[in-house]
Amino acid sequence: MDNFPRFGHRRLGDFGLANGIDHLNHGGYGATPRLVLEAGEAARLAMEADPTTFFRCELPDRLRNAAARIADFLGGRSEDWAFVENATAGLNAVIASLNVAPGDELLCLSQVYGAVANTLRYHADRRGARVVVVPVPVPFEDIAPLLAALEAAIGPKTRLACFDHITSAGAAIIPIAELAAICRRHDVPVLVDGAHAPGQVPVDVPKLGVDWYIGNLHKWAFAAKGTAVIWCAPEHQAELHPIAISHQLGQGFTAEFDYSGTRDNSNWLAAPAALDYFDGLGREAVYAHNKTLSEAACDLLAARWGTEAAASPRFRAAMTSVRLPGGRRGDHQAAQRVAERLRREGITVAVMLLDGGLWIRVSAQIYNEIGDYQRLAEIGARLLV
Ligand SMILES: Cc1ncc(COP(=O)(O)O)c(C=O)c1O
Repeated sequence: MDNFPRFGHRRLGDFGLANGIDHLNHGGYGATPRLVLEAGEAARLAMEADPTTFFRCELPDRLRNAAARIADFLGGRSEDWAFVENATAGLNAVIASLNVAPGDELLCLSQVYGAVANTLRYHADRRGARVVVVPVPVPFEDIAPLLAALEAAIGPKTRLACFDHITSAGAAIIPIAELAAICRRHDVPVLVDGAHAPGQVPVDVPKLGVDWYIGNLHKWAFAAKGTAVIWCAPEHQAELHPIAISHQLGQGFTAEFDYSGTRDNSNWLAAPAALDYFDGLGREAVYAHNKTLSEAACDLLAARWGTEAAASPRFRAAMTSVRLPGGRRGDHQAAQRVAERLRREGITVAVMLLDGGLWIRVSAQIYNEIGDYQRLAEIGARLLV
């Protein structure tokens, strides 16, 4: 990793991460640089200095300025971007806003995040609709079978397709533009769960050809927790509402999302500071470092364990899921036991249930070095699943 002399453990001081732990789960909850937390605190103090003036006069413009910075980062026009608390809230807003009718079908991928699967099922059940699952092959090595499975799954009743941009369990980058092109031919609107994408891979949302895009900034874009964004194509904005309906109902997409009841918007106002931090490091350098390190970690683990990754290198970025030795079969209890064992050893990492087996998903961020994965490789090799 000599090509990235500014990264590695020397960056740990930028964050509040505790010493004595191998932090290998950046994809889980992100980690926020201190200076972003400070920017959030400055916004919070401004709010508390004169709450009435802040909410009535300052907040609307400040949120729109922050949205302009999001558009600069993820593409498109600032008026098509708004903030939400997290990917879950954004996905719920879109799905709840749909007019789903009895018999309709909502498509998702087999690696859909559990919370999103629940949301789809909840709304499908309420309206007499059903969820249809499109299989993502494990390991994910080729897009052709996925495209064919999508073609086969779309029917006259398909009301929505919901795709993960980067899957949680398999850490696989899904070719959204290709899937969206198929959906467009069949007039099926596309919702993208980009919980893991912004900051992990370059994203230009309008170029994807989708209808709604939700991205977390608190995972890979260095924002503070509770910072996510929603993009809505102009033609759907009148029908889209936040999950908490408030005074601005019917006044337009940004008006409705910018004010959804009194809440602490400080972390959203600090999102530009997070992106400034990112740009200060160099976006391309961060992407390249994290991908290179993630590949090295994958090679190390797969070689030590004699197992394989859940996606081939061209479908991976800063995360990789590697099958545990003896992990061909597993369940939630086994996954929890493994995670707890590793946590007791001072290793925080995601243990995933995928395709009926157990996988370890490691993340690579600017504060990681290849040595961070060594203890995991050794302990994982001795684990009896
Ligand atoms: C693919 C995917 N979607 C949605 C979420 C939910 O994100 P949040 O907890 O920020 O709502 C996650 C969280 O890890 C995820 O991995």
